[in-house]
Amino acid sequence: MTPFSRRVGILGAGQLGRMLAMAGYPLGHKFGFYGLNHDEPAAMLGNMHIQSDDTDSLGQLVDFADVITYESENTSVELVEKISQTTPVYPSAASLYYSQHRGREKSLFTELNIPCAPYTLVTNLAELHQAVDMIGLPAILKSTTEGYDGKGQFVIKQTSQIEQAWSSIGEREAILEGFIEFKRELSIIAVRNADNQHVYYPLVENQHHEGILRLTVAPAQQISPAIQQQAETYMQALLDQMDHVGVLTLELFETEAGLVANEMAPRVHNSGHWTMEGAQTSQFENHIRAITGLPLGSTVPRQPFAAMVNIIGQHGDIEAVLKMPNAFLHLYDKAERAGRKLGHINVVADSEAELQTSLEQLKAWMP
Ligand SMILES: Nc1ncnc2c1ncn2[C@@H]1O[C@H](COP(=O)(O)OP(=O)(O)OP(=O)(O)O)[C@@H](O)[C@H]1O
Ligand SMILES: [Mg+2]
Repeated sequence: MTPFSRRVGILGAGQLGRMLAMAGYPLGHKFGFYGLNHDEPAAMLGNMHIQSDDTDSLGQLVDFADVITYESENTSVELVEKISQTTPVYPSAASLYYSQHRGREKSLFTELNIPCAPYTLVTNLAELHQAVDMIGLPAILKSTTEGYDGKGQFVIKQTSQIEQAWSSIGEREAILEGFIEFKRELSIIAVRNADNQHVYYPLVENQHHEGILRLTVAPAQQISPAIQQQAETYMQALLDQMDHVGVLTLELFETEAGLVANEMAPRVHNSGHWTMEGAQTSQFENHIRAITGLPLGSTVPRQPFAAMVNIIGQHGDIEAVLKMPNAFLHLYDKAERAGRKLGHINVVADSEAELQTSLEQLKAWMP
């Protein structure tokens, strides 16, 4: 056993858990998962504790683990608080509490002077009408919890759409946000450990299609040092306020007036997958280092240009990717299904021209 070897328990067994474990084994750690079934992406990478009503599989995972983390911001806060009584959970319940609810998240941004869209919480149709009067149109109605990949959202362009918007999100607690005219979508990933060490990856540019991330370019081009610094200042405020331990991701809009925060995630993020080959230390390894009490690794890019292309729905001509010298294939062992994230392709390049040529070769995976 290596001196700092830990048994890490992960709530969830999807691709994020899979890549966390793959990054943690070289450090000497062991892994266990709390998942749904033996077909999940992480199932073969450690002890699998299947959720069931008959056995206390969560208790078994907690008994196994020295430290626990999770792959989704939709994890129950109460569950994390309960586990924390016996076993440390990072990021803590406070990080989950703010990140899993769009209203709490936005009020934290406001408290910390982080610019975000104007917003109002609504719980019924009458309140939605009032909110539209206040915020103006266009505006976006989002369920306060459980949204992902653009699900649970409706863009209201005209007042005649208000009722349709309310029924489309399922008539539940929601947030109405003013529509931000942005130039680009960016994100930043930061990591903090319990010794209060903070590290930041460079801002990246994200392109979505039908609500799903398709391409990340890292670092984002034409970012001034002042903008990078601004993003890091926002992250430092969030990390410190929540006493966050682990990776934290912030999605941002770049506007004429500067950066505007969209949402945050208390976990490794799809827009950070480029770090696997693109940075000195991947987001996955740094998350594991943070939660197991290790010093954090360098976030500096290994090459001047990198990109990540998601494999969505169908695998496509995977052998073509394997022939590219500067491309790295990551598959999640998932069955093909429309809109599903099956894997991603990372590319690294020494020049912008080389990056563009590589992305041209990968255009079959882009919308
Ligand atoms: N206030 C806004 N103004 C303009 N565009 C917005 C706004 N909010 C969201 N969008 C657009 O909708 C997309 C999805 O929104 P958001 O990130 O809040 O949802 P999500 O379902 O949590 O997405 P994901 O899980 O993929 O990050 C954003 O990436 C952005 O393109
Ligand atoms: Mg988002």
